[in-house]
Amino acid sequence: MTAIENNPGISQSRGAKVQDILKTDTRPVPKAFLDFASPYVGSEEVPKSRFTSPEFAALEKQYVWMKTWQFACLEDELKEPGSHVVYDVADESLIIIRGKDGEIRALHNACMHRGTRLTDDAGRVDSFVCPFHGWEWDNKGDLVNVPGSWDFPQFIHGSKPTCLPQAKVATWDGLVFINFDQNARPFDEYAAKMIEHFKEFPLSKRYKAFHAVKEVECNWKVLMEAFSEGYHVLVTHPQIVPFCGDENSEYSIYPDNPEVSRFFNPFGVQSPHILETLSEETIAEEFVAFSSRSRGYSDQTRPEVPAGVEARAYVAETFRERMSAMFRANLDNYSDSEILDAVLYHLFPAFAPWAGIGQPLMYRWRPGRTPDTAFMDVIRMVVVPDNEPKPDPAPTTKLRRDQRWVEAPGMAGLADVFEQDMSNVPFVQQGLKSSGKKTVTYANYMEGKLRHFHKMLDMYIEEGLRADGKSLDVLDPHRVGAQLD
Ligand code: FES
Ligand SMILES: [Fe+2]
Repeated sequence: MTAIENNPGISQSRGAKVQDILKTDTRPVPKAFLDFASPYVGSEEVPKSRFTSPEFAALEKQYVWMKTWQFACLEDELKEPGSHVVYDVADESLIIIRGKDGEIRALHNACMHRGTRLTDDAGRVDSFVCPFHGWEWDNKGDLVNVPGSWDFPQFIHGSKPTCLPQAKVATWDGLVFINFDQNARPFDEYAAKMIEHFKEFPLSKRYKAFHAVKEVECNWKVLMEAFSEGYHVLVTHPQIVPFCGDENSEYSIYPDNPEVSRFFNPFGVQSPHILETLSEETIAEEFVAFSSRSRGYSDQTRPEVPAGVEARAYVAETFRERMSAMFRANLDNYSDSEILDAVLYHLFPAFAPWAGIGQPLMYRWRPGRTPDTAFMDVIRMVVVPDNEPKPDPAPTTKLRRDQRWVEAPGMAGLADVFEQDMSNVPFVQQGLKSSGKKTVTYANYMEGKLRHFHKMLDMYIEEGLRADGKSLDVLDPHRVGAQLD
């Protein structure tokens, strides 16, 4: 290993800074892209038990998943009275439904008789009939029929409500969010920075063109982290290194709204890992060839970058034209950055919408029923064609653990990159159980956003324990920076 300076919090890749790359754009970039902040968040070790221990998973459930705002679905998926989707997280489940009064509710998906799960699937109903003894709930969650009702006067005429319990609901720009905590602070405050930035990227002007969800054998944080840094690109996705600014990605944490962070990965520039200077033609050629596969372009014409034009501007213009035709929308005003870069916002704990339109994705990560399983949703939010009605949202494809992303219709060339990421994560989970070393070691800058995320988890758990008047002892061995022998 070569000698390195010991400058945590100062050292960054020798590659061009994202903010300098943005200055070369052929159009004004969105103001949101210029709003960045990369505070140093420390160098402590992070205990592995956070990913494997049922005790820590229980703390997360109680004080993070039960307390935070989570993306549930699109308003477009709840168009008619009775339209609903099921939102499962850890061992909780909600039915997100539009009632016959037009209101969107998040009903607990559990019968109030003896607890049976009421439904597994999205659809449209006037009522839910419990499959066990037939108690029936209308689409507002009110109990409307009980077979043998004479035997339940204590429930039907009791002092407690007979409607299904509900979580809190908020809507933002066509998206529906839930919070299990009825006393949660307003969504607009919780997600303020994301809301402010996305005024320039209105999601309500996009439609859901693709949605797949897959169960994966790893902790939800392992899965989320695999999509939250550019450090893994060199080894996991070597095919994109000639045109991806991986090591010089920008990571933003917003101190006044720490629930929002951002990973900004520039494209159309070579990786700082490549020591020789590639020609603009080579960068463009590699990028166009890759994207013809991943974005579904059929034209395989070899790029001819005019003298004096940078690969980034050339490829952006090429994609702008191709995407305009593909989306049937005029994209002339979109900056090179919005066309090319991966700009991934992250709303704590686990919702990640991309800002640009080149790969208009949204990710969601959720814990499964044990610390060793998780779910990842991949949604593609495509711009609505000019002067055309908004298409209906695509149905959701559910992939089992043993299925590959490519089996989801519409995943196209994106699946290759996802399979590369997915091939790592079960091995990460297995290795985290090794007793050889008790902590993971994050990079100071490139993985600082991950460390920030873990500190947020600790903050929420600590606040929750304190509010419940409980000792912090249960958290201490799992904390970021815990002294483990
Ligand atoms: S558990 Fe639902 S009706 Fe009995
Ligand atoms: Fe990746």
